[in-house]
Amino acid sequence: MKRVPEPELMVGPEQAEAYAGPHLDSAYWLFLQCFRKFFHDLVPEDAILDLGCGPAAIPLRLARLFPNCEIHGIDGAPQMLEQGRQAVRREGLEHRVQLIHGILPHRIFLPRSRYEMIISNSFLHHLVDPMVLWNALHAYGRPKAAILIVDLVRPTSEEQARVVVDNYMPDAPLQLRDDMMLSLCAGFTLDEVTSQLEEAGLAGNLCVKMVSPCQFAVYGKLNREL
Ligand SMILES: C[S@@+](CC[C@H](N)C(=O)[O-])C[C@H]1O[C@@H](n2cnc3c(N)ncnc32)[C@H](O)[C@@H]1O
Repeated sequence: MKRVPEPELMVGPEQAEAYAGPHLDSAYWLFLQCFRKFFHDLVPEDAILDLGCGPAAIPLRLARLFPNCEIHGIDGAPQMLEQGRQAVRREGLEHRVQLIHGILPHRIFLPRSRYEMIISNSFLHHLVDPMVLWNALHAYGRPKAAILIVDLVRPTSEEQARVVVDNYMPDAPLQLRDDMMLSLCAGFTLDEVTSQLEEAGLAGNLCVKMVSPCQFAVYGKLNREL
C-alpha cells in the first residue's frame, strides 16, 4: 500500500482528550517494556527529551520510574500540551516534567542544549518528511545519547490496516479507531526506516526491530563527536 501522510499536528481538542484517556495504555506499556529490554542497565540522571510528546503519558511514566531525572517533551499542538500540563500538575511533577511548545524541524529553545536520551512514540508517521526526526537526534542528542523510537509499521493493504485496528482497539472510541487507521496508512515500512537511518548516517548505531505485530522500535546509542 502506498503511504498516505496524515496532518502533522493533532490540534483537535477531542484528539487530545482521546489520547489522554485509558485506551492507549497498552501502547505506553509496550514503550516501557522496550525501554527495559533495550536499556536494562541505563538509569538516566540528567534529562530525557521526548519528541512529539502528546499528552505526556510517557514522560509521566518515566518520571515515576526515574526519580533523579527530568523529562522534557516537545509538541506542536497546544491542545495536547494543555492535557499534558494538567496531568503533570495532578501528579505534582512540575519540577521534573516540562512540556514545551515547538514544531520540528524549527529549532526549539530547550532547558538543555543536548540530551543523554531522546525518545519518541508514534511520532515518526506524523511527519511529512521523516528525516525531521532523524535530524533532530543529531541536533539534540549528546555523543553516545541513548535513543528509543517506537512507531507503527504500514500494513500491506487497507484491509490489513482494518484488521490491525480491530485487533488493537476493538472497544476504543471512534475518534481513536479512525486516527489509528490514518496512522497505519501514514506509517513507514521497515525497509523505508532502514533507508532513512542510512541517509541520516545512523544505520551503524541504531537497530530496527519489530516489537509487536504492528510496531517497530529503533534503538541504540549515537556515536559521534560534537
Ligand atoms: C500520535 S501523537 C503521539 C503522542 C505521544 N508521543 C504518545 O505516545 O501519546 C503524535 C504527536 O506528535 C505531534 N507532532 C506531529 N508533528 C509534529 C512536529 N512537526 N513538531 C512537533 N510535534 C509534532 C502531534 O501534535 C501529536 O501530539
